[in-house]
Amino acid sequence: MIHRVLTPLDRLLDDAQRALETVLGAPAAERGNPAVGVPEVALADDERRHAAGLMRINHVGEVCAQALYCGQAAVARDEGTRTHLLHAAQEETDHLAWCLERLRELDSRPSLLNPLWYAGSYAIGALAGLRGDGWNLGFVVETEHQVEAHIDEHLQSLPAADARSRAILRTMKIDEARHAAAAEQAGARILPPPVPTLMALASMVMKSIAYRI
Ligand SMILES: [Fe+2]
Ligand SMILES: [Fe+2]
Repeated sequence: MIHRVLTPLDRLLDDAQRALETVLGAPAAERGNPAVGVPEVALADDERRHAAGLMRINHVGEVCAQALYCGQAAVARDEGTRTHLLHAAQEETDHLAWCLERLRELDSRPSLLNPLWYAGSYAIGALAGLRGDGWNLGFVVETEHQVEAHIDEHLQSLPAADARSRAILRTMKIDEARHAAAAEQAGARILPPPVPTLMALASMVMKSIAYRI
C-alpha cells in the first residue's frame, strides 16, 4: 500500500470532515450491530425515555472520544502514536453508529449540544497531546476507564426489558477495556492528580446535561 505524506492542510481538512461526519452525519459501522437478533420488547413511556437518556449519554461519550482522539492525533509527535489514536477513533465509530441506531429505535435523538461537546473535547485532546506522547496515551487509558465505568452504571440502570441497548453496551465495554490495555502497552503514562479527577468532573457534567438535551 502506498502512503501519501499528508500536509498540515490535508490533516486539517481530514479533521474537519471527521468532525462533520461525527456530529451531523450517519457514521458507518464496520462491524454488525450487537443488538441484531435481540428481540425488541415494548417499553413503558417512562422506561423508554430513561433508556433514551442513557443511550444519548453513551452517544455523547463516543462523540467526545472521537474528538479527543482526533485532537490528540493532530498534535502527536510520534507517527506510531498518531496512528494508534486514529485507529482508536475508527473503532469508536462503530460505537457511535450503534448508539445512534438505538436512539432512533427508542424514538429519540442525539444531543443537540454535540457540536459543543465535539469542539470542547477536541481542544482538551489537543492540549493533552501537547504535553507529549506518554501523556497522550495516558489520556486514552483514563478516558477508556471512565467510559467503561459509566457503561457499567448504565447496564445496572437500564430498564430490565431493554435487552437491545444492553447488548450494544456489553460489546462496547469489552472494546473500551481492550482500547485501554492497548494504550497501556503502547507506553501510556499514569496521569498525575488532579487530571483524572478533573476528567471525571467534566464527564459528570456532560452526563447530567446529555441525559436531557
Ligand atoms: Fe467507545
Ligand atoms: Fe474506546
